[in-house]
Amino acid sequence: MKTIYPEHCDTLFTGQQIATKVSEMGREIEAHYAGREVTVVAVLHGALVFVADLMRQMDMPMHLTAIVASSYHGAATTPGQLNVRLDNKLDIAGRHVLVVDDILDTGRTLHRIRDVISELDPASVKVCALVDKPSRRVADIEADFCGFEIPDLFIVGYGLDYNGRFRNLPDIVGLDPDNLPVLD
Ligand code: IMP
Ligand code: MG
Repeated sequence: MKTIYPEHCDTLFTGQQIATKVSEMGREIEAHYAGREVTVVAVLHGALVFVADLMRQMDMPMHLTAIVASSYHGAATTPGQLNVRLDNKLDIAGRHVLVVDDILDTGRTLHRIRDVISELDPASVKVCALVDKPSRRVADIEADFCGFEIPDLFIVGYGLDYNGRFRNLPDIVGLDPDNLPVLD
């Protein structure tokens, strides 16, 4: 497994620590909804691994749907410009919606998604993120359910990527900003 890791990185959370945290989050979400049905909206692709584990730790009725969010940082586009693509069959009206993402960074993505969902007339909207970087926040949003708080670090693994890579690491690791991976 060693070969799939970036050359310069530090392990922040092991797969085992993540599993324990995800299980605790499942209990907290169950307690909050108290048996009511929830519609989980996974923010792809980053939330893919997390949501797969989290939903199996939620002992309650639920639906799963997804939303694709991509931000463009290329020279030809405005930094932070965000494209949100909804599943056509997204059935939100009157439902309790739980938006699940990998990480809350500047908060722009989840802020925008919460606005888009709110326009579809849900019974309620809550936000769940595995990791929070509060020091980076620009948009006015907090996670209702959060796993780990970290300082301003770029992390990969457990669904989180660097230029599309490293999503398949079982652990979450921090990249060394002075030795970022050289990808082909
Ligand atoms: P936002 O800045 O809160 O809008 O976050 C936008 C997206 O950037 C997140 O959903 C992640 O996909 C990505 N992102 C932010 N910080 C990190 C990180 O440390 N590692 C990997 N992806 C990140
Ligand atoms: Mg992402």
